[in-house]
Amino acid sequence: MTHLLDPTAGAGSSRDGLDAWRDLPAVQQPSYPDLAVLKDVIGTLTTVPPIVQPHECDILRTRLAAVARGEAFLLQGGDCAETFDANTAEGIRGKVRTLLQMAVVLTYGASLPVVKVGRMAGQYAKPRSSDVEGSTGLPSYRGDAVNELHGNRTPDPQRLIRAYANSAAALNFMRAMATDGSADLEKVHDWNTAFVASSPLGHRYEELAQDIERALAFMRACGLDLSSMPATQGVELYSSHEALLLEYERALTRYDESGERAFALSGHLVWVGERTRDLDGAHIDLLSRVANPIGVKLGPTTTPEVALALAEKLDPLRVPGRLTMITRMGAGRVREVLPPIVRHVEAARGKGSVIWCCDPMHGNTTETANGYKTRHFDDVMSEVRGFFEVHASLGTHPGGVHVELTGDEVTECTGGAYELTAEDLAGRYETACDPRLNNGQSLELAFLVAEMLQAARATTSR
Ligand code: TRP
Ligand code: MN
Repeated sequence: MTHLLDPTAGAGSSRDGLDAWRDLPAVQQPSYPDLAVLKDVIGTLTTVPPIVQPHECDILRTRLAAVARGEAFLLQGGDCAETFDANTAEGIRGKVRTLLQMAVVLTYGASLPVVKVGRMAGQYAKPRSSDVEGSTGLPSYRGDAVNELHGNRTPDPQRLIRAYANSAAALNFMRAMATDGSADLEKVHDWNTAFVASSPLGHRYEELAQDIERALAFMRACGLDLSSMPATQGVELYSSHEALLLEYERALTRYDESGERAFALSGHLVWVGERTRDLDGAHIDLLSRVANPIGVKLGPTTTPEVALALAEKLDPLRVPGRLTMITRMGAGRVREVLPPIVRHVEAARGKGSVIWCCDPMHGNTTETANGYKTRHFDDVMSEVRGFFEVHASLGTHPGGVHVELTGDEVTECTGGAYELTAEDLAGRYETACDPRLNNGQSLELAFLVAEMLQAARATTSR
């Protein structure tokens, strides 16, 4: 395989199992013109400090264990594909704020803690259905870690260093926002109030926003000084991305201090995509050997048997919080294909042995007559609703949502309170890959999901 380094040469040559993937089929890897440059870059990435720490990954796993038990809810969101150009203070701030705004509403709706995980600080690689772009004949854009969207499409290993640096800078900024007052509960709630006041569908969300207002007033009246408590001032914020580029992930895979467990320290949670989750493939092998919380995406053609086999391979010991199954079935199919999968996995491994998380984006992508890839807000909501219905009927926990979003007022998904149409998409269509919910659409989703969580709670506590 020309795109992979010789495992016996230089960096990354260990034979402790962390390189076993090198002998397995590895799909979706870039074909670099010059492997000497790749080798050099990987040498560098093997010595740089890791982006996250094993201890943080462990804490996230305990938070996710609460999700698995039905005692917390997972919110995962961010760009489809981050880009180096858009990795700005403003861009990160917008996404973090959006996640926090959603989290407040969901925390209230669920009456449960919300585990906040950005699809951020590392989401720089994209799997593609074809090596060549149909419309241009150019090599496909594979994410900023690989090649340029507007420019040179030849994969350049040096871009892995930029991906590392941009991820580290973004996470540094996110860490600051988690505790510097940006996450102040009252402030975030005030943004939501402003959203409700200005949205054409604001009246639909007013009641919930007022309930939150009253809850905050109640806490203040009880003598809690909300402006000075760490619990109301700060949040835990985690990073996640698709672990696609094996050389990059391997270079940032390190042992903890005890030398007993290896972690992919490129991010807190890493997931395997629907296109690379072959049971006997390289991606599943590498991630089965690291101790991070792991996600795996499951599409509508996944059989219950394969879902179970993936769970057993990625989490043979059934470690609470270890594995999140991110289902992306499409609004039209979720009610039919999800139940047998959930039933089979839970029957074999026990209730709550994995987290069920709904990705309502990837199964609902369409193309408009004027050539834009889009998703209709109603389809997105319909899949979330189907996900909740399925879990309600099976008595299992609808553990979380995974969405593609941005804090900017882009026009990429149709529908929502402003009823964006195909014609509106030209206005601000900025995504480097898939269409994202804008800030307003993300908040609408959060309000609607909060209602579903409230309803789910009302039925289970009866
Ligand atoms: N620390 C709590 C939490 O993370 C409460 C909180 C503070 C919060 N700021 C927030 C919740 C912003 C959501 C969003 O849940
Ligand atoms: Mn996407």
